[in-house]
Amino acid sequence: MAVHDALTAHGPGGLRDQRGRMLRDLRISVMDRCNFRCPYCMPRETFHDTYRFLGTHERLSFDEIVRLARILVRLGVRKLRLTGGEPLLRPNLTDLIGDLTAIDGIEDVALTTNGTLLAKHAFELRAAGLQRVTVSLDSLDPQVFMRMSGGFGGLEEALNGIEQARRAGLGPIKVNAVVQRGMNDHTVLELVERFRGTGVIVRFIEYMDVGNRNHWRRDLVVPSRELLERIGARWPLEPLQPAYRGEVAERYAFADGSGELGFISSVTQPFCGNCTRARLSSDGVLYTCLFATHGMALRDRLRSGASDEELLDALRVLWRARADNYSEQRQAARAEEGTRKVEMFYIGG
Ligand code: GTP
Ligand code: 5AD
Ligand code: SF4
Ligand code: SF4
Repeated sequence: MAVHDALTAHGPGGLRDQRGRMLRDLRISVMDRCNFRCPYCMPRETFHDTYRFLGTHERLSFDEIVRLARILVRLGVRKLRLTGGEPLLRPNLTDLIGDLTAIDGIEDVALTTNGTLLAKHAFELRAAGLQRVTVSLDSLDPQVFMRMSGGFGGLEEALNGIEQARRAGLGPIKVNAVVQRGMNDHTVLELVERFRGTGVIVRFIEYMDVGNRNHWRRDLVVPSRELLERIGARWPLEPLQPAYRGEVAERYAFADGSGELGFISSVTQPFCGNCTRARLSSDGVLYTCLFATHGMALRDRLRSGASDEELLDALRVLWRARADNYSEQRQAARAEEGTRKVEMFYIGG
């Protein structure tokens, strides 16, 4: 990468969007399929046996993903996160990780997974250069887990996946739990207790109105403040500074020194002001917001001979024009019901 690009991307005159935000993180969905059907993400009624997922040739190839990542590094990206659907369903994922971690300018490569296939792959992922994993796990109660994964087991596999990831050195490991009122909010303390003192960082996510199909209702959102009070009453907590600028989670340390917790409060405390993320879907559409209705389709351009410079220019224009701040506009946006948003499984959260 030209040093000149790196300086212009981050210097005082660097690339900024309409709200002054830089491009720092690229979240890459490598697979639209998933072996779960979490009702808040891929409800069974829609994602049934005959649902048409992407075919192999409709997904970006590894070479195409790497090429886009290199171009986006020239616009400021420093951090990559691989997501899905379930990214470990993508064959030979370790090859892609090897190529992405070798890109000059990339400082952090992480993976978000439901953990069921992690035990099998943890060591090879680490060997390919992956730094850390985040495991989505909503409850330790087998019945609640079953309901929240859409009727699948897999709790033991996920826990074993976390253990193998720890042994492989894929840390700090984070556990993401989406909390829904009346569904798993009564199992939150158990989750905290299980991982307290193990080095695994549990983060609770407010249930969001992503996509169009999860029947989101505000009364099902458990505000982070409420969880903080409940957890803090059992184990005193102290606020921590963000680990980096624009961190999505608010961090708290256990006062007794046994680690930390996080809260991701996109509904009650939106964080759009610091949003430095772009999202690439598995078929090559780049979205600048998790709640976007449109993105920039790159796959056909990649396949019809566009040069790196042409793609760079188009992406620079896209980022400069970006003004989205959905979570800050949520009330107004809900009023325009019927707006078709991109689905979460498709761009990976
Ligand atoms: P770290 O790099 O470990 O700090 O992870 P992260 O917080 O950047 O990413 P992670 O994938 O763990 O994010 C956790 C969850 O936060 C996602 O699954 C989403 O539910 C939510 N989230 C992440 N980024 C955004 C965002 O830009 N907007 C909104 N509304 N939610 C987000
Ligand atoms: N609200 C909040 N988080 C969600 N995720 C998926 N759907 C939602 C939603 N509706 C999270 C999952 C996982 C990540 C991929 O996205 O828990 O951690
Ligand atoms: Fe799959 Fe994750 Fe969506 Fe659940 S939240 S259906 S595990 S992609
Ligand atoms: Fe970024 Fe959109 Fe999330 Fe706001 S709602 S933080 S703009 S992805």
